[in-house]
Amino acid sequence: MHNDIDHVLLHESTIMSRLDAMARDITRDYQGEMPTIVCILQGGIILMADLLRRIQLPLLIETISVASYHGGTLSSGVVSFKQNALPDLKGKHVILLDDILDTGRTLEAIRDRFVNEAGAASVKLCVLLSKKKDRPCEVVAEYVGFEIGDEFVVGYGLDYQGQYRNLPYIGVLKPEAIQRLA
Ligand code: IMP
Ligand code: MG
Repeated sequence: MHNDIDHVLLHESTIMSRLDAMARDITRDYQGEMPTIVCILQGGIILMADLLRRIQLPLLIETISVASYHGGTLSSGVVSFKQNALPDLKGKHVILLDDILDTGRTLEAIRDRFVNEAGAASVKLCVLLSKKKDRPCEVVAEYVGFEIGDEFVVGYGLDYQGQYRNLPYIGVLKPEAIQRLA
């Protein structure tokens, strides 16, 4: 698994100290509230576990499962919800968690449904990574761990062909690993 990594972009210790700061911001911004954290499966699960334990607030946890990538290293642009029912978010202050903001289509589609269909009082976006690029939609995440270049990364929840999510760091795959699993 580690042998397939060309280089590490963000070490585990770097991610952990950034999460300390993000959790402090969220704790400050939601004083007196009980936010509902909605984790996007599968990519958001590692971030969810590490970030939530640092937030000093009462909170609720929900998950939602969507697919937008369908295997390759380029976003398909189509967001499919894997369940029909949305979590009960009526009047709730929601923080939507995902691993990465790429084109932004996934987070935009989910946020729209949370506000328009589920009746959330507010929805803020929180991602570990945001790719520096021109986006087809105007999506801004309120909480961003790191801005990275427009390259394909794995680890810390992010996968390639379903693998590498359990790497404790963010890394770039060797071209031969991408080809082998394609
Ligand atoms: P978006 O809708 O284009 O923003 O795509 C977001 C989803 O695509 C994320 O939740 C990831 O699952 C996946 N994704 C985007 N960039 C990467 C990457 O560099 N590595 C792995 N998955 C990625
Ligand atoms: Mg994902």
